[in-house]
Amino acid sequence: MPGIRAPVNYSEEPDRHPALKINAKQPFNAEPPRQALVSSYVTPTEFFYKRSHGPIPVVDDLERYSVSFNGLIEKPKELFMKDIMSLPKYNVTATLQCAGNRRTAMSKSRTVRGVGWDVAALGNAIWGGAKLADVLELVGIPKLTSTTPLGGKHVEFVSVDRCKEENGGPYKASIPLSQATNPEADVLLAYEMNGETLNRDHGYPLRVVVPGVIGARSVKWLDSINIDSQICQGFFMQKDYKMFPPSVNWDNIDWSTRRPQMDFPVQSAICSLEDVNVGKYGKIAIKGYAVSGGGRGIERVDISADGGKTWKEASRYQKPGIQYVTDDEKSDKWAWVLFEAEADVHSNTEIVAKAIDTAANVQPEKVEDVWNLRGILNTSWHRVQVQVRHSNM
Ligand code: MTE
Repeated sequence: MPGIRAPVNYSEEPDRHPALKINAKQPFNAEPPRQALVSSYVTPTEFFYKRSHGPIPVVDDLERYSVSFNGLIEKPKELFMKDIMSLPKYNVTATLQCAGNRRTAMSKSRTVRGVGWDVAALGNAIWGGAKLADVLELVGIPKLTSTTPLGGKHVEFVSVDRCKEENGGPYKASIPLSQATNPEADVLLAYEMNGETLNRDHGYPLRVVVPGVIGARSVKWLDSINIDSQICQGFFMQKDYKMFPPSVNWDNIDWSTRRPQMDFPVQSAICSLEDVNVGKYGKIAIKGYAVSGGGRGIERVDISADGGKTWKEASRYQKPGIQYVTDDEKSDKWAWVLFEAEADVHSNTEIVAKAIDTAANVQPEKVEDVWNLRGILNTSWHRVQVQVRHSNM
């Protein structure tokens, strides 16, 4: 691949912030501490979770780097960075969340396979780049197309990195053409993150950002885009990131029975407290995030200080100082909201958060109800234990 290469080992990895909690080193997978995650609405890039499946690609010559467009289009084409950067630039604030966020907690109910994430495998960034709908127009596919004249219905993104799951082949994923060509879906080919050039961990020089959809579909280090009649047949679309019922195990699994997961369901987590907290307490600050997929905003976040018997509504905000109004066209509909509440705690208790999105979808109460063997989409009520230590003084 001209201008960019996939190292065969991990000797050329970028530097990372020492405060990140590393869940796997090779490939590198890490998340920030809970408290750091909710200290700002826009997640600083160095604290943004990092999820990779192989060594991080290296760009040797940006001028020679290009993305090729193939498959069911009239004429294959190659676009260079300058072509993509000459299109109108959009800044989209969007939360990216790994489907495996909160997997560790699901594993405590019954063992699952996958990277053990706490509650911080997500982040909220301002992504800058060209809209995929504009890029596709440049290669001859008009806006709002769901099928090309040659029968193309899906847009497959192929990366540069090499993953063992693909037997040494590249990471790939696809989205429907109707979503890719819809300017309102805000799918980006992003070259900036939080106002700066994308860094290597997050996909430099160019990545896809599919707002409202599980992070796995936002392919980093883009190499080519194929217009296809069928959904991408790669490992991560066909043999991973699918939601199975609790009855399916590794002996009876039939991957073909389920569709690849796309939209993220409604989610929330408390980040100002750990799983178990011991202290004197009294008034206690409860802070966290809530987010839903598909552009559905967060309608409400409920907090319970008695294990879910009684609830009170948390206050929530998006942009600093501006109350979050879901139907305001200026609201960041692809982004999380941060919430805040206070509880008066004088005896041992369980504090719980649950969010409700604008379609009135509610987080499920028990992790057992959404348990699945790959441990994805743990969106159950988030619970933390508070143990009150009474001092004799
Ligand atoms: N793209 C490539 N090329 N390789 C990858 O390993 N991981 C995916 C997605 N895109 C991945 C990828 C997954 S599972 C997630 S959750 C997000 O990237 C993570 O993006 P981030 O590392 O920028 O947070």
